[in-house]
Amino acid sequence: MCGIVGIAGTRDVAPVILEALKRLEYRGYDSAGIATLEAGKIDRRRAPGKLNKLGAVLQDRPLHGHTGIGHTRWATHGKPNETNAHPHATAQVAIVHNGIIENFRELRDELAAKGHVFESETDSEVAAHLVTDYMAQGLAPDAAAKKAVARLTGAYSIAMIFTGHDGLLVGARKGAPLAVGYGDTEAYLGSDAFALAPFTNRVSYLEDGDVVVIRGPEAAIFDAAGRPANREIKVTAAAVALVDKAGHSHFMAKEIHEQPEVVGHTLAHYLDPAGPTVRHLGVGLRETLAKASRLTICACGTSYYAGQVGKYWFEKLGRLAVEIDVASELRYRNPVYPKDGAALFISQSGETADTLAALREAREQGQTIIAIVNVPESSIAREADIVLPTYAGPEIGVASTKAFTCQLAALASFAIAAGVARGELSDIDEQRLCTSLLEAPRHIAAMLRGEGQARALGEEIAKARDVLYMGRGASFPLAMEGALKLKEISYIHAEGYAAGEMKHGPIALIDEAVPIIVIAPHDVHFEKTISNMQEVMARGGKVLLISDSDGIAKAGDVWASLEVPKTNAFVTPILYAIPVQLLAYYAAIAKGTDVDQPRNLAKSVTVE
Ligand code: M6R
Repeated sequence: MCGIVGIAGTRDVAPVILEALKRLEYRGYDSAGIATLEAGKIDRRRAPGKLNKLGAVLQDRPLHGHTGIGHTRWATHGKPNETNAHPHATAQVAIVHNGIIENFRELRDELAAKGHVFESETDSEVAAHLVTDYMAQGLAPDAAAKKAVARLTGAYSIAMIFTGHDGLLVGARKGAPLAVGYGDTEAYLGSDAFALAPFTNRVSYLEDGDVVVIRGPEAAIFDAAGRPANREIKVTAAAVALVDKAGHSHFMAKEIHEQPEVVGHTLAHYLDPAGPTVRHLGVGLRETLAKASRLTICACGTSYYAGQVGKYWFEKLGRLAVEIDVASELRYRNPVYPKDGAALFISQSGETADTLAALREAREQGQTIIAIVNVPESSIAREADIVLPTYAGPEIGVASTKAFTCQLAALASFAIAAGVARGELSDIDEQRLCTSLLEAPRHIAAMLRGEGQARALGEEIAKARDVLYMGRGASFPLAMEGALKLKEISYIHAEGYAAGEMKHGPIALIDEAVPIIVIAPHDVHFEKTISNMQEVMARGGKVLLISDSDGIAKAGDVWASLEVPKTNAFVTPILYAIPVQLLAYYAAIAKGTDVDQPRNLAKSVTVE
């Protein structure tokens, strides 16, 4: 989603802002722009498309000035063209905005009636005009900014600069992240600490309703009620070096190949290999699990599918009732939360707007809030009672891969802990499950060494117009994850179904042109899944079976198969994620799509 950088500096800031925006590219965007104050006057450059286009514009017509703001825009209101690109400006103020201003129509009508003329189709431009209007009424820039943001509904993070006010930068946050960076002679605003890492590692995170007024290197923060607020300055671990592809052609490939290591790191955090047992997972967690009458799991996209796998684990190992929903539904359907309930929110970025809003709703309903997140300084991590981190490292590819398997590693450990805390698992059970889990990184590495077969099959899949995935038990969410992965990066239509559901409708789609990817570990569900597979094959379906050597031998003749190492049934979702990712990746490569930044998608979805 949109990325924001602001600098109140001591040098020409446009080139520096451009570099910082590159660090936000991973969030996904379709146009970009920068505005600076040159001799006290606002000047701006904007361009549709990627940052190299903006770079070319700046080379042609450089921007000077020590105070500036920059933006990568992920279009919500209006096409990704130059007019709709940020910064939006009037003669007095330039603003960049991430989020959605829900009451922009009313505000625009009100301002248009007063003579304001709008040039873009965006919701964001209204913020620039509102500030301008208050300044015209005699308010100082910071006071006008505070008054204006108080009237905005929806979600936003905003940065602003003002004509004639060199060194002044105002930021505001409600529902979308914004960090303040502190340098020796400069101060910064950024969507995340990663954007600010080349400038400073001293960062504070604004809270909802906060406004920050930066003058030179000084920053004063005010809360929603306008009172001066102290926000802790944290020393962040965000890496200065731009994460590179380490010799891979895409971040996605690199991230797929990092999985043995990062799943290993995540497991090392949760499991004590000496037992092996699950380590202490966080203050109060075991007590919460022991007494929880129900666990509500909530997330979006791939993180939601991780949660779906978790549901199978919690119910089986902990006999813990689980309710699960996608965040955009859960937050609006007025769910019934139990007394003594716990709610688990799963998010790679920790900033997904719907997940964060659902978390707040669950807190209001008295739930203990647990979060599995990959970004430790994210909003979701900061607002949870108990944080279960994943150690995937920065995930840059829009398609989530290593974050997913690390989420599964954390969930599996957490589910074992639930089983122990609730008296459902003995010490021996715990050791057995932990032993199997600890073998996962080795198995993943073995599969990645033999990825050639997945490449060839991915190239075949690329020829299809539609692809179906099916699985039973914990393989059902993997089927949905496989379909999501394929559609988001290869743009091939794909759906994931519970294997037993095929005959209730989807089987009508089967013909020789539709590959069916059957995820069938050799477990208690195997025979039933294979029966469903036979039903599909009897109708001409072209089956690609993913199973272990026993499963493949038993299943008989299929169009193609991919072998996964034999393991305890409990661990299979972590291993079976790998061929599913590889198939999608190589299908996308064969189709020549933009694998790391697929069309229309954003990495961090900070709008509803
Ligand atoms: O950062 P989050 O885990 O909260 O993000 C949730 C989804 O937006 C994300 O998983 C999305 O579905 C990915 N593009 C999937 O590959």
